[in-house]
Amino acid sequence: MFPTRQVEMSHFLSFEGIDGCGKTTQIKLLENFLTSRGIPVVTTREPGGTEVSESIRQVLLASKNTSLLPQAELLLYYASRHQNLFQKILPSLEQGAWVLCDRYADASMAYQGYGRGLDLKLISYLDQTVIQRRMPDLTFLIDIAPAESLRRALLRNQDSRVDEGRFEKESLPFFEKVRRGYLEIARQEPERFRILDGSLDIEAIHRAILRSLEPLLPGNGSRSH
Ligand code: TYD
Repeated sequence: MFPTRQVEMSHFLSFEGIDGCGKTTQIKLLENFLTSRGIPVVTTREPGGTEVSESIRQVLLASKNTSLLPQAELLLYYASRHQNLFQKILPSLEQGAWVLCDRYADASMAYQGYGRGLDLKLISYLDQTVIQRRMPDLTFLIDIAPAESLRRALLRNQDSRVDEGRFEKESLPFFEKVRRGYLEIARQEPERFRILDGSLDIEAIHRAILRSLEPLLPGNGSRSH
C-alpha cells in the first residue's frame, strides 16, 4: 500500500485538487479527528510551511506578480518544497507524527506541467533531485468540476483580506487542464491515490477519507465513527 515509504510506518498524506475543491476544510477535519485520537499531527502547506517557504508563497501568489515567468514560478515552488520537506516534513515523520500536507509535488505536475504546459520531464527531474523522489504515502485527490470550484474560490476571496488572488484570475480552460492532469497522475499511481468526489458534502468526503485511513489507525478497524 505504501510503496515509496522511507521512514518505517510513515504517515505522510497529501491533499490535492483544483482551487476551491475543499481540501483545506478536509485537512482541518482530519487534523481534529487524529488529534482527538491522541495521534500526533503536523499540518503543513505548499507553497509554504516554513518561514522561508511562507515568504516564497507571498511572491508566488501575489496578484501584482503577473510578470513571474513559468520556469521561475516552477523553481520557486520547488525551492519552497525543498525547505518544507527537509525542515518540517521529514523531521516530523521521524518523530512519529502524521504529516498532512495541503498540496505537494503533484500540484506542480498538474498546474505547471499539465496546466501551463511546462516540460513534464523537467518536473520529474526536479522530483528526483530536489525532493529525492520523496512522495507522500497516500494522496487524496478531491475531484470537482472547475465551474463549481471557481464559484467557491471567488466567494472565499471576497471574504479574505490576504492577497492570494493571482490564481483565481486563471480561466476555466486552465483549470480543466489541471483537473485532467491530476486525474492522469492518479491513474498512473493508483496505489498512492484516493480520488474523492468533491461535489459531495463536507461530512461525506470526511467519512470517505476516514474509511481510507481506517487500516492505518491505531486499534485498526475499531473506530466508532
Ligand atoms: P493553495 O494554497 O492550496 O490554494 P487553495 O487553498 O486556494 O487551493 O495553493 C495556492 C495556489 O498555488 C493554487 O492555485 C495552486 C498553486 N500551486 C501550483 O501552481 N503549483 C504548486 O506546486 C503548488 C504547491 C501550488
